[in-house]
Amino acid sequence: MIYPVTVFGDPVLRKVAEPIEKDFDNLDEFLENMWETMYHSDGVGLAAPQIGKSIRVFVIDASSGADEEPELADFKKAFINPEILELNGDEWTMNEGCLSLPEIREDVSRPETVKIKYLDENLEEHVEEFGGFAARVIQHEYDHLEGKLFVDYLNPLKKRLLKSKLTAISKGKVHTSYKIRIPGKK
Ligand code: NI
Repeated sequence: MIYPVTVFGDPVLRKVAEPIEKDFDNLDEFLENMWETMYHSDGVGLAAPQIGKSIRVFVIDASSGADEEPELADFKKAFINPEILELNGDEWTMNEGCLSLPEIREDVSRPETVKIKYLDENLEEHVEEFGGFAARVIQHEYDHLEGKLFVDYLNPLKKRLLKSKLTAISKGKVHTSYKIRIPGKK
């Protein structure tokens, strides 16, 4: 099932998401819906708050980064109840976008590597370190679970320049190839 994507102005994107319990109902189906929604909207990653669920789950398919980083060719992972243990390396800048911030792209600086503990789709625990594009996407998606969006990192001037665009998004006045959930509407 393809969900409409929540956008800037929706309170669910500002909440700290809750961990899921081991007896979470229909996890397979939930993840399937996350993947379906992500691929439908051409996203590289999708976090549960972006489909209106305030739980600590995100999915990432970073295979589009394989041109520059061949080891990403089969990078398709679900991260459940993730916990960032360490951020290391120099910060580097990349132009980021987000399905919840349609038509906005901005340069964001983030540390180079991330060490993360998480459960996979079978609820098996992993502790792994990622670098490059994967580390970038993981940090972006993890922020969604903390109620953060990439525009939060911009300087005050950039934020001011984006204000009218953000207001328009929150009213649903934006063009997207996928369905969005307009904040405040049922
Ligand atoms: Ni995002």
